[in-house]
Amino acid sequence: MTVERPDRNLAIEIMRATESAALAAARWQGRGEKEAGDQAAVDAMRQMLETVHMDGTVIIGEGEKDEAPMLFNGERVGTGEAPKVDIAVDPIDGTRLLAEGRPGSVAVLAAAPEGAMFDPGPCVYMEKLVVSHEAADAVDLDRPLAENLASIARASGKEVRDCTVMMLDRDRHEDAKRAVREAGARLQLITDGDVTGGVLAAWDERPEIDLLYGIGGTPEGVILACAIKALDGHMLGRLWPRSDSEKQAALDGGYDLERILTAEDLASGPDCFFSCTGITPSQLVQGVTFDPHGAVTESLVMRSKSGTVRTIRARHRFAKLRQYAAVEY
Ligand code: FBP
Repeated sequence: MTVERPDRNLAIEIMRATESAALAAARWQGRGEKEAGDQAAVDAMRQMLETVHMDGTVIIGEGEKDEAPMLFNGERVGTGEAPKVDIAVDPIDGTRLLAEGRPGSVAVLAAAPEGAMFDPGPCVYMEKLVVSHEAADAVDLDRPLAENLASIARASGKEVRDCTVMMLDRDRHEDAKRAVREAGARLQLITDGDVTGGVLAAWDERPEIDLLYGIGGTPEGVILACAIKALDGHMLGRLWPRSDSEKQAALDGGYDLERILTAEDLASGPDCFFSCTGITPSQLVQGVTFDPHGAVTESLVMRSKSGTVRTIRARHRFAKLRQYAAVEY
């Protein structure tokens, strides 16, 4: 066994970027302006990332350079010093939730050693299945949902009727919704935000969600994989092209559309980092609250190597920050 001195936990530093994004985005809660809220989060996250001692490359960003003015795929972030890391950002997971003033929007960011993150290429969506470690051997993406639910229930010592499945409420999930209902399990539909749902499903200390299932964003899948590894949860995924042309582009790019991807395939290696800060309140973290002196944020911060999961409640004093910070408060 090799013994190491405690080393740096990058997650704690990248947390300042998710906090910053959440603080900026929170001012747009319920204002009906999706793009403006997103832009505020992107700008704030990017400014704070500049201060992090790392040589980061955005692998999962806001899109290609020409469409996304900042945090685009390939953009370099951090001070340029070691370590070299891949970065995946979702300055707001649940942009629509924020714009409509609904619960569940969060700012998320993940980091992994250079070359560790899966590049989804043209594939915008993937099928995802997430459970906690105790049900890891109980699931198979090729098996009907009812069978998976029966074995998840057995593995976790519950009855199927007491198991809860979280799923994005989408037309493409009609068959899956029916399957859950026919199996007799409880269904929790969400309008957006499957990163939060995946963390809840993977986390054994949060037994309220037993399974996250459905087709959602591939970028969110890569970010989620970093959290799953820290939580020792279990994730299975498969790329899900939306059209024949997307399918052809993926095949031309050498992607295997039958391949079952695990969290390790999506973010490889022992040292992955994840930070998530609430914008509007959610089942996972509190949203930003403002008071006469500033604001309070709540973040969930994890590192896969140590398995440390921190909930960090931070008080931000705007009067002090405004004296020197480049970020607007
Ligand atoms: P954004 O807020 O980043 O757009 O993502 C919200 C989200 O609900 C994700 O959590 C989910 O993975 C994806 O969108 C699902 O995509 P779609 O809304 O196209 O079904």
